[in-house]
Amino acid sequence: MTNILLNLIKIFPPEIAHSITLRLLKLKINTITQTDHPILKQHFLGLDFSNPIGLAAGFDKNAEVINQILNLGFGFTEIGTVTPRPQEGNVKPRIFRLSEDEAIINHLGFNNKGSEKVLKKLKKINLSNLNYGIVGINIGKNKNSEDAISDYCYCLEKLGPFGHYVTINISSPNTPGLRDLQLRGKIENLVKKLQNIQEKLNSIKSKPIFLKISPDLNDEQLRDIALMSLANNVSGLIISNSTVERPTNLNSSHRTEIGGLSGKPLFLHSTLALKKMYTLTNANIPLIGVGGISNGKECYEKIKSGANLVQLYTALTFQGPKIISKIKKELVYLIKTDGFNNVKEVVGKEV
Ligand SMILES: Cc1cc2nc3c(=O)[nH]c(=O)nc-3n(C[C@H](O)[C@H](O)[C@H](O)COP(=O)(O)O)c2cc1C
Repeated sequence: MTNILLNLIKIFPPEIAHSITLRLLKLKINTITQTDHPILKQHFLGLDFSNPIGLAAGFDKNAEVINQILNLGFGFTEIGTVTPRPQEGNVKPRIFRLSEDEAIINHLGFNNKGSEKVLKKLKKINLSNLNYGIVGINIGKNKNSEDAISDYCYCLEKLGPFGHYVTINISSPNTPGLRDLQLRGKIENLVKKLQNIQEKLNSIKSKPIFLKISPDLNDEQLRDIALMSLANNVSGLIISNSTVERPTNLNSSHRTEIGGLSGKPLFLHSTLALKKMYTLTNANIPLIGVGGISNGKECYEKIKSGANLVQLYTALTFQGPKIISKIKKELVYLIKTDGFNNVKEVVGKEV
């Protein structure tokens, strides 16, 4: 996609711009074979990542452009959040571009086509036929569900076999009560139920299950999650989702909209939570760092703060797909300059 096209798309309101982008991506023919610098390759949780940069959940909610995203050069993509049944999400407008702050506020509320439709899409993507890239499946609960845990178990069982890993999203700020699942007791109960299902099903037995958490947890809550994760051998944590906090230095007129803030202003907040978790878990729980990454230096900083892998979303909407090769190039340069032989050696070096 050229810069001209990117600027044209940005004329439209964010949600329309997003559907235009998805349509354009669907038109792309998948012939590109990616070759990443060997310094970026990583064997992590039984999976081979060609590079550590992934597309965060929320962009490809319905698994419509998996191949196209991977062909842009992402090392992995996370589809979803998918809920058991389809749902419309909140009333529009529900995505706001904070251009002056290179940020977005959204209160989408898990709009998605539901597990049945997504399953059909996933079945068309044969994981073993993907010549490049890893696919994660991010799952959630329906807004009007009476039993959140059943929703997660249902989606894990149904969709889990069709991805390389699964993410349990308990941190979206736009589904009432969802974030409470992160609290002591509740989170352990959820993890145990999911692990029970995993034990019984060969198709998901060896697949990593990540918990995606909020950057707004206090120190005690972070410690609870760290201890619970260690005690239950949680595969990994994704830190973080968007924030409900509003830094005082936001300039855009949309800064008072409700919902989750993502992009540049989230970087420090989410990186601090990442660092704390790396320390609290004594580097024994694999971490994926997300929040505000817009260049190679910030990507490098997340890795130095304890992340094996990183994800981004908001910066892609501002910079377009050229951001991926740019970050990879910058990252290779930074790793080499500091004398490391591989990205894995960098993990946690600044904590
Ligand atoms: C429009 C939009 C929709 C999102 N939807 C989801 C979602 O469905 N599930 C989820 O786990 N995170 C969702 N996120 C959060 C992102 O995955 C990511 O955690 C967050 O935006 C921080 O990364 P960033 O600053 O690079 O955007 C969404 C973010 C945005 C901007």
